Amino acid sequence: MPSEAGTTDTLKVRPIGKTIGAEIIGADVRESVLDEDGFQCLKQALLDYKVITLRNQMLEPDDQVAFTSKFGPVNDGGPKNPFFLEGYPEVTILSNILKDGKPIGFQTDQTDEWHTDITYLDKPSMGAVLYATEVPPEGADTLFADLEAAYIALPDTVRGRIDKLRAIHTYPEQYGGKLTESEKAAMPARSHPLVRTHPETGRKSLFVSPMMTIAVEGLREEESDDLLKELFGHITKPEFMYTHKWELNDLLIWDNRCTMHKSTWFDPKYSRLMYRTMIDGDVPY
Ligand code: SIN
Repeated sequence: MPSEAGTTDTLKVRPIGKTIGAEIIGADVRESVLDEDGFQCLKQALLDYKVITLRNQMLEPDDQVAFTSKFGPVNDGGPKNPFFLEGYPEVTILSNILKDGKPIGFQTDQTDEWHTDITYLDKPSMGAVLYATEVPPEGADTLFADLEAAYIALPDTVRGRIDKLRAIHTYPEQYGGKLTESEKAAMPARSHPLVRTHPETGRKSLFVSPMMTIAVEGLREEESDDLLKELFGHITKPEFMYTHKWELNDLLIWDNRCTMHKSTWFDPKYSRLMYRTMIDGDVPY
């Protein structure tokens, strides 16, 4: 049985960040190897540390999809996904590699800003799994921010002011594959609570991001802009951050219900190839 700290006889959970981030040592997530106790240990570590990494995973796309589906239904990363792995509509390619002069994946280091995945939908993704099959020797880190720690660190007066507010989230244009007018109409701006409650831990976290949150409902434009600026400045402070430095065959899992993330630049002379699967989520409350 998993212990309270989420460690089993064979798996070890090693914290690697300030408030978030843990490495799981001794796990192989392939279906034929990972037993139920092992999976429950990983799940608990994800709830405790919000971002978990497993090194040296040797996965085929089928393994990644099967593993991701243990957390819940796997989706294809949003309504408009031109970059999925052939034969695997659930697997999105993130890459700077070109084939016949055309990108094979989303080049996240060029387009990313801090965000939580697909919050422009009514039911944003619960979490994501990212597998590194080619990594540059330097750069291309992924940054994560702990939105629960950021919420706790706010002064009481600010928490009291924002607790019942809602914010508007929209589809970011820089995602590439610009939407047609009819696609835009099918994806209106969404209103979500500015402070959300994690459905499994019951803990509260801020739920805004510079990439997708454009306004706070019910406030005058200037007031809304000022509040968002203040919150964006707060949630991107280094003390809430974990920086993931990728190694080949890393598997990273994050909880979108209490974090946001952002990829970082790398020299284009290097190639990066990652496969991402996403887990369906619930309506935030
Ligand atoms: C993402 O923004 O979902 C991917 C992060 C990365 O490419 O490092």
